[in-house]
Order: sequence, then C-alpha cells, then structure tokens
Amino acid sequence: MRIEDKLSARTQFMHANVTREILKVVGQPGMISLAGGIPAPESFPIDIIRDLTNEVLDEFGPAALQYDQTEGFTPLRMALMDYMPTRGVVNVNLDTLNIFSGSQSTLDLISKVLITPGDTIAIEAPSYLGAISAFNAYQPTYVSIATDENGMIPEALEETLKTQTIKFIYLVPTFQNPTGRTLSLERRKRVAELLQQYDVLLVEDDPYSALRYSGEALPPIQQFAPDHVIYSSTFSKILSPGLRLGFCVAPAPLARWLAIAKQGSDLHTQTLGQAIAALYLRGGYLTDHLPNIIALYRPRLESMLNALANYMPEGFTWSHPEGGMFLWLAGPEGLDTDVLYQECVARGVAFVPGRYFYYDYSQGLNTMRLNFTMVSPAVVDKAVKILAETAQDTLITD
Ligand SMILES: Cc1ncc(COP(=O)(O)O)c(C=O)c1O
Repeated sequence: MRIEDKLSARTQFMHANVTREILKVVGQPGMISLAGGIPAPESFPIDIIRDLTNEVLDEFGPAALQYDQTEGFTPLRMALMDYMPTRGVVNVNLDTLNIFSGSQSTLDLISKVLITPGDTIAIEAPSYLGAISAFNAYQPTYVSIATDENGMIPEALEETLKTQTIKFIYLVPTFQNPTGRTLSLERRKRVAELLQQYDVLLVEDDPYSALRYSGEALPPIQQFAPDHVIYSSTFSKILSPGLRLGFCVAPAPLARWLAIAKQGSDLHTQTLGQAIAALYLRGGYLTDHLPNIIALYRPRLESMLNALANYMPEGFTWSHPEGGMFLWLAGPEGLDTDVLYQECVARGVAFVPGRYFYYDYSQGLNTMRLNFTMVSPAVVDKAVKILAETAQDTLITD
C-alpha cells in the first residue's frame, strides 16, 4: 500500500520540527549543546516530587488515577486561581481556566477552534517554531510584524490591523523563544489598546516569565485586555516538562470551546501529574524551589554574556535577556549560519541556525539561537570560545 496516497491534504502543511531533528544529531557523546530548549535536569525537584507522589496517593487515593474532568483536576485549578494572580493574570476562575497537556497542546487546541484554512495569523519574526507547527496543520497564512530589540513594534502591528483581517496575533512577550527579548511595559499597554480598538484576539504564550534573573517583573498583556487575550503558560520550566502540564486562561466562551476541542483529542490531561502540581503549588514548594532554578541559570546567562563580549569577532550583535533560556546572535550580512553550524558541530558545539524560526526559512540566514541553561558556566565559556573561533574562520574563508 502507498501510504502517501492515503494521507489527508492537511499533512502537506505539516513538517517535522527542525530543532527536534537537530537535537537528535547533537545528542552525540562529547557534543556541547547550545541547541536545546530544555530545562537542566538538575533543576527538577526530584525529592519533592517523590514526597508529593506519596502525599497525592494519601490525599486523593484512586481519584488521582481515575478519568477526570476535561477542564482539569479541580484541586489544581483551585491552586492556579491563587497562583496566577501573583503573576499578574486576571479573571482566573473556573469558567476561564483550563489545564492542557503542555502549552504545546494549548496551541494546537487554539488552532483547532480558531483557524479556518486561509485565515491570517500575525506573528513576530522570528517566532517560536513549535507554534508555527501547531498552526500549520490548520492551514493559515501568516503576516510577520516587525520587531526590534524591545520585541514587536506596535506601530507595525497597527499598520497590519488597519489593512488586513487578522484571526489572531501570536506573541511570546517575555524572554521570547528564540530571541530572549521582552516587550516593554509601554508596548504591552499599547498592544492591549490595539486589541480592543481593532477587536482582535491575542494568544499570549508565556512559558518563561517566572525565570527572571534580573530587572523588574512585567505584567502580562492579558491584564490590560482580558476579553481579547488567551493567556497560556506551563509547568514545564518551573517543575518538569515530562509531566506535560499547561494552563490557559481565555475569555469564558472560548475556554468552553477549547475544552470541547480537547474532549476529542485526549479527554483530559493526565490526573496524577495534575495532582502532584496541585500540591506543588498549594504546599508552597514552587515558592521554595523557584529560587533554586533561578540560582542555577543566572550564572549560566552571565557566563554567556561575558564570553560573547570577550570572544566574538567584530560584526556580531546579540540580545541581552534578563531571564528565560535563550539568547539571539546575529552575524554580519552574508554569514550563513547553516554553514557555521556544520563547522561548529565538527568542533563539538551545536546551536540552532536562526532561519528555522521564520515560517518560510528564507530570513535570518545570519542569525542563530543559543541556549544557556543546559551547561555549566565554565562549559558555556568554552562553547562560546569555540563558536567565536569557528565564526572567525568561517568569515575569513568566505
Ligand atoms: C514559547 C513556547 N511555547 C510553548 C512551548 C511548549 O512548552 P510545553 O508544551 O512544554 O508547555 C515552548 C517550549 O519550549 C516554548 O518555548
């Protein structure tokens, strides 16, 4: 049988996630990977999870192992109703809050409910490519909104909203993946005004704001326009990504549709993990443990910023994030970071070439994403030194 003949038309728009392919290559022994987008294994609170698993079974018994409501395990939703307002999210209640299987599945469900083929989505360029893969299966078209070092430019967004019908805007306003950039407070307020003025929805994807190493916390855009924002976050970076737990606050009628869409996908998110997360929040373990994660990552970011300043050749610029997991590096025009990637991998260092974060792969040829959370400060320094030497050699060869 030719399986190709059986596939749906939709599959033409679905592509393997390039970073996941790169991650397979860089798993080789001895490779220093600045390519991943994953938390350091030593950030996981293994002892707490062991204790909480016992507590969960004592407190909830079989209910922690049973089928449950699509909207989420009630004790977790109650705990999030206390926690999310501390992150500045408003309107968090049982009609607006859903638990999904990681924020990746939130993006898929949003797409399922909102995108009709041909709808236009406004995105930052570059953008989180996992979002683009979630959207692609539902066959939208894209318009990119110009960005600078402070994130998306509201004037550019307004130009697009004036001239085009946009189904939704997708933004990662805080410590963006891939650039590490953060949208300023003024811009957040302006974006919220534009959402209201043009009556358009925003998907605010916020996996990283809890990982702040310096500077002041900023409110989510959702706070300024809750009727126009679907706010999505996750336990992946503050507890464990393997638990696959995302949480989402949306205007009530939309939250209901997301739950209906989820019924057809997986009925509900796994109960045991939700119960562990409920006690992690309720027992104050997140408050205790988050500073450990921040203390682990802060020196890694500092080491990367110092190493870039010390070693990179003329013509390179980079973002200066105050948190998150990534930093964005741009080389001189004409540099091809795909070629640089091959050379660096041969010398034992991997990163992700920047063009894969654009929906058509044709832009950002001279850019790259560097992850700083996976290796120690000393190894970060060594890796950036190798990257800088390789970049210098590549530029001379060109
Ligand atoms: C911006 C962004 N959104 C969503 C996700 C998906 O996270 P998860 O499904 O683990 O919650 C990631 C993961 O790295 C991300 O960077």
